[in-house]
Amino acid sequence: MTQAANRNAQHSIEPIFIDRWSPRAYTGEVIDDATLFSLFEAARWAPSANNSQPWRFIYAKNGSAHWGNLFALLNENNQRWVNRAAVLIALVSKKTHVRPGETAASPLKNHSLDAGAAWASLAFQAYRLGWRTRAIGGFNRDAAPEVLGVPEGYQVEILIAVGKQADKSVLPEDFHEREQPTPRKPVEKFIAEGTFSFSE
Ligand SMILES: Cc1cc2nc3c(=O)[nH]c(=O)nc-3n(C[C@H](O)[C@H](O)[C@H](O)COP(=O)(O)O)c2cc1C
Repeated sequence: MTQAANRNAQHSIEPIFIDRWSPRAYTGEVIDDATLFSLFEAARWAPSANNSQPWRFIYAKNGSAHWGNLFALLNENNQRWVNRAAVLIALVSKKTHVRPGETAASPLKNHSLDAGAAWASLAFQAYRLGWRTRAIGGFNRDAAPEVLGVPEGYQVEILIAVGKQADKSVLPEDFHEREQPTPRKPVEKFIAEGTFSFSE
């Protein structure tokens, strides 16, 4: 369980929601397929509009033939810590769906939202299995579709690094201070009854 003074629940919840956080320090340990596919299995059961399941995952294990392509998409700062991850995963969402009873595809308004739900499931399952994850928005979005072979009608949402957590000493020095669980806004800042009544 995460022992961090800045991560206390205001209301009763399952400990995993607080315990999961996103380290950058990884050991470089290899991930086996049974573990990796357990993460995808968790993602599979996420809810989505019309049960459209718009998420697609493209993975490359560290050291595999595909690793270099995914790794090269990362911005320089992310490359400095992802190099010790076990696997990099691109999360792609499909922007259209053939709704039940229809023959033509129509736009899916919530493709990113639903892909996000799948990412969260994957992250919690990884945590349960003793692996850690960090989502990455800092990558070359212009180049990603071509590099990954993603056709029109899909959106590359994030990359995800998965690895076994290491001591922060494996990281370049400038990451050390940030290698810790972060706090959250108090509940009152983002909950309103009935109408929007937030200051920001
Ligand atoms: C969509 C998205 C994009 C992110 N992009 C990056 C990134 O480019 N580099 C990075 O180190 N962390 C990135 N993060 C990680 C967040 O900074 C991190 O999840 C957030 O600070 C909350 O911390 P926690 O996950 O440890 O609880 C990203 C997270 C999300 C969800």
